[in-house]
Amino acid sequence: MCPGNLADPRFYVNLLCSEAPGSEAALHFNPRLDQSTVVFNTLEQGTWGQEERGSGIPFQHGQPFEVFLIATEEGFKAVVGDSEYHHFRYRIPPARVRLLEVGGDLQLDSVKIF
Ligand code: GAL
Repeated sequence: MCPGNLADPRFYVNLLCSEAPGSEAALHFNPRLDQSTVVFNTLEQGTWGQEERGSGIPFQHGQPFEVFLIATEEGFKAVVGDSEYHHFRYRIPPARVRLLEVGGDLQLDSVKIF
């Protein structure tokens, strides 16, 4: 993946619980280059939960990167490049995830699910 350079330099990876509009999200992974932060959250019954943020931002405009979202026993572990960035404890069981949604200001090169 590669963050771009638009006026709204944010992107997201959502792990959604259904295909329906307004679906709950077991994970909203939301790098915000304008705020130099990455927001992690859930969306439950149309309401955002409490935000968690990693420390610093491991992305730069125009620089390619890899993100791994690993489902562990306790939560989603976000690994960027070679480093663990943040471990987001489950609020919604990962077995409920049905859909991967990626959007916003980035160039998506490949997605692997394993
Ligand atoms: C809101 C933002 C949403 C989502 C949410 C996460 O402020 O509008 O798109 O990122 O924060 O907590």
